[in-house]
Amino acid sequence: MKVLLTGGCGYIGSHTVVELLNKNYEVIVVDNFQNSSPSVLDRITNITGRTFSFIKCDIKSYEGLRNIFSRYKPECVMHFAGLKAVSDSIEEPLRYYKDNLNGILNLLSVMNDFKCKKIIFSSSATVYGDAQYLPIDETHVTAPKNPYGNTKLFAERIISDWTMTEINRKGVCLRYFNPIGAHTSGLLGENPNNTPNNLMPVMLQAISGQIDELVIFGDDYDTRDGTGERDYIHVTDLAIGHMATLEKIDELEKFQVINLGTGQGTTVNEIVSTMESVCKRSIPKRISARRTGDIAVSLADARLSSEVLGVRFVRSVEQMCRDSWNWHQRNSK
Ligand code: NAD
Ligand code: WQD
Repeated sequence: MKVLLTGGCGYIGSHTVVELLNKNYEVIVVDNFQNSSPSVLDRITNITGRTFSFIKCDIKSYEGLRNIFSRYKPECVMHFAGLKAVSDSIEEPLRYYKDNLNGILNLLSVMNDFKCKKIIFSSSATVYGDAQYLPIDETHVTAPKNPYGNTKLFAERIISDWTMTEINRKGVCLRYFNPIGAHTSGLLGENPNNTPNNLMPVMLQAISGQIDELVIFGDDYDTRDGTGERDYIHVTDLAIGHMATLEKIDELEKFQVINLGTGQGTTVNEIVSTMESVCKRSIPKRISARRTGDIAVSLADARLSSEVLGVRFVRSVEQMCRDSWNWHQRNSK
């Protein structure tokens, strides 16, 4: 099957390209490098020993996408491209709505033109907002707490409406929990162009002295040790989840939402001490007040992914820390 990946040079897209190439899929990558680097292309080839097509294009360009679809005629799209920083989305909501919503609208319009009927979309557990119960299953109410989360939910609804207008269309929205880790080769990992806010990249910067300390946002939550608890999933497991979705897509509902998480929670203190034992260093840190908008616990009900996709995510938090640390040591700027 020919699969087109938008944002295939980014953190999650690049790992997914590797898994698809390893299974002999024909892969077409579209990216404009706004949050990635062209060096990713060679790195993917080094890991897999396989070739694939790449086109530099902004997915908001209708003509650009039309040319690509006309040439390659993909049968399925995995849509990763978009803006993803919660704090930026609060400061610049219109930029987030423009990029993320024009992106999906343009993409679906071109898919219409070329009769491409399947899309797998990168959604986020952020669409749930505050957890009403735990673990969070796919029927949990959606109430995003920031513009980024709104763009993900609106895109899901657009995809849902799109699937209903023609037989054989399929839309799968994968709601990722907290992806971390890196490719075990150390050649691919998270490489943000701007200042990171997420725990793993900040923790890596604190270990290597790029920042003075890790600030832990709150130790007064109702969790085992008072720090925030999350469901971390290794980026390679996430990539495998995408491949499983592609393989099972014909058996899924026309429109389907699936959580991608492990169902296991780890607190900030727990991941910090795991990382300290992996890298054999002490991480400079201090406790501060809670971060506005944060929730205490986010934990996936992972039963649907295991039932309908047949996947079990096996990589441990220790493995996630080891791979992230390896990646950082080899690649930190
Ligand atoms: P990323 O920024 O590393 O990758 C996105 C890629 O898309 C980058 O290579 C970027 O250059 C490209 N891109 C962005 N806008 C584009 C455009 N208009 N045209 C062409 N290319 C464009 O992000 P990621 O962490 O790999 O996330 C991928 C997707 O998963 C995003 O949609 C994100 O919202 C979603 N997601 C990520 C996380 C996470 O924690 N990383 C969690 C939940 C959901
Ligand atoms: C994890 C825990 C923080 C940084 C975000 C987005 C979500 C998704 C994944 C895209 C929390 C604590 C963090 C720091 C800290 N992305 N922390 N000090 O907030 O769960 O989810 O990324 O879709 O949409 O909201 O992830 O890594 O920022 O935080 O103490 O410097 O680490 O308070 O408990 P989050 P995170």
